[in-house]
Amino acid sequence: MKRIVILISGRGSNMQAILEAKLPVQVAAVIANKEDAGGLQTAASLGIATAVLSHKGYPSREAFDADLARLIDSYQPDLVVLAGFMRILSEGFVRHYENRMINIHPSLLPAFTGLSTHARAIQEGVKVHGCSVHFVTPELDHGPIICQAVVPVLDDDTEDTLSKRVLVCEHQIYPQAVRWFAEGRLSVEGNRVRVANHADIQAHSLIVPRD
Ligand code: GAR
Repeated sequence: MKRIVILISGRGSNMQAILEAKLPVQVAAVIANKEDAGGLQTAASLGIATAVLSHKGYPSREAFDADLARLIDSYQPDLVVLAGFMRILSEGFVRHYENRMINIHPSLLPAFTGLSTHARAIQEGVKVHGCSVHFVTPELDHGPIICQAVVPVLDDDTEDTLSKRVLVCEHQIYPQAVRWFAEGRLSVEGNRVRVANHADIQAHSLIVPRD
């Protein structure tokens, strides 16, 4: 069975969705860079090993990332799962986990990389928004996209209501993507990811708003 390590910085709701999905993986550990990350307690209560490595006090990003990689590798994961791990990663760290580290981002990449994605989507007036699971490459919030989920942006949406609608989708697509990896169904060809044996895609459009 494939082993995964999950990295978090905060509440860990995506981590929880993965842990509760009963996937054919062994979750070797949940690691946080903040000792008050709420997800640590959730993981511990579900019987998962936890560890904290604070980035504070490190002289450089590279020095922290080197120690983080050592900690991750001590659990011998096949896949590193970033679940709200709010750190910019050094190139060496990313290359070390090439094709074996994935991330979830709350936007339809490559739109709205970075922070405050929901507020910026509302500000820009887009009519659809969503979330993306992707392999991690050195460029922030880029990398081959495994799957995306789309939600409408409603006239009275606030950052809060829109983020909640997207989060429901995050909790659906992230466990699914981890399972695909575990089942060996993902292949990366350049910037495109193919998913073997996925369900038929209903090729109808989401038009927002409709007449
Ligand atoms: C999620 O919305 C995730 O997509 C986002 O942080 C949140 C973490 O929530 N990640 C990023 O913005 C990464 N660039 P969670 O801790 O409840 O999973």
